[in-house]
Amino acid sequence: MHTLCRIPYLLVSPKLLRPRYCSSQASSEVIQLLKVPHAKNNIPASIIQKVDKKLHLKRHHPLNIIKTKIEDYCNKYALDNEQNSFTIYDNLSPIVTTKQCFDDLLVASDHISRSSSDTYYLNESTLLRTHTSAHQSQFIRSGVDSFLCTGDVYRRDEIDASHYPVFHQMEGVRIFNFKENVSVNDAKAIIENDLKNILTGLAKHLFGKDCEMRWRNDYFPFTTPSFELEVKFNDAWLEVLGCGVIHDQVMANCNKTNKYGWAFGLGLERLAMILFSIPDIRLFWSDDERFSNQFKSNDIIKFQPYSKFPLCYKDVSFWLPAEGLHINDVYEGKQYTLYSSDHH
Ligand code: DAH
Repeated sequence: MHTLCRIPYLLVSPKLLRPRYCSSQASSEVIQLLKVPHAKNNIPASIIQKVDKKLHLKRHHPLNIIKTKIEDYCNKYALDNEQNSFTIYDNLSPIVTTKQCFDDLLVASDHISRSSSDTYYLNESTLLRTHTSAHQSQFIRSGVDSFLCTGDVYRRDEIDASHYPVFHQMEGVRIFNFKENVSVNDAKAIIENDLKNILTGLAKHLFGKDCEMRWRNDYFPFTTPSFELEVKFNDAWLEVLGCGVIHDQVMANCNKTNKYGWAFGLGLERLAMILFSIPDIRLFWSDDERFSNQFKSNDIIKFQPYSKFPLCYKDVSFWLPAEGLHINDVYEGKQYTLYSSDHH
């Protein structure tokens, strides 16, 4: 037997086991679609510009660091609990239908999130996804039982330090296979327990094993029961995610009657702002090297604030004194006549 060829199962890192499935539509195609004139099209150029940025896929960007940390944790949890690993989707087109974004998720037909004052529409039936939950049903319907789906989401909103009309979410879903003799109540109790376990572990993984947290009941139309998880950070309770047991009707609409599972959704900016101490959501979009140069590895570090004024280089030239110049004279700020010219 060629034992040397066998890689011990547990020595393979979760990264290597991570299945990757990225179905993507070229950004240029997406951008063309966003520009098609229509009476209902309310997408400004400033939003169209953001569509191919894909900050969550940019190496060493704080959003990418958090995303990878969560994916690795979830797949390690799956491995430790002998569950199928999560398929990763992180490059799906942000253009979805009203059916995907709202109907499939049982969002009421008069819910404010459907209105064009809140949502960017291409036309009556297509829009920029307002949450990554918009992809849940398509995968459940096609038989993908466990996945994590990350993407940019769009909501018409005011702009300030904590609001921006584009941000990033991650959706997690696991559908379970139970033996026929397990009752619906028992199945749902097992699912709720697994959901709370994986997410409590995630909060500890991100915020430290001693972090204080609490579960609160919540409401989402597509999960029942629904919960939110709050974490205590700097003496304040912060909501970090929403989740629940997937509503029977959502499963039925995916042709999966008698199948049950859980779902969660979290905002990456919110987590990254807390963990990296990034004070303003607009910084994530910055091209300034004083921002990007701070993140050189996959570690969570404390962000160092910098001036709001842009970098400005100056070339300087000056006459040397006859007696010569030591570099320390320059550091001491001795008075010499300086001639400066702007650097081009
Ligand atoms: N889509 C929700 C939002 O954007 C977040 C969410 C809540 C996702 C509960 C879920 C869930 O999958 O079960 O606010």
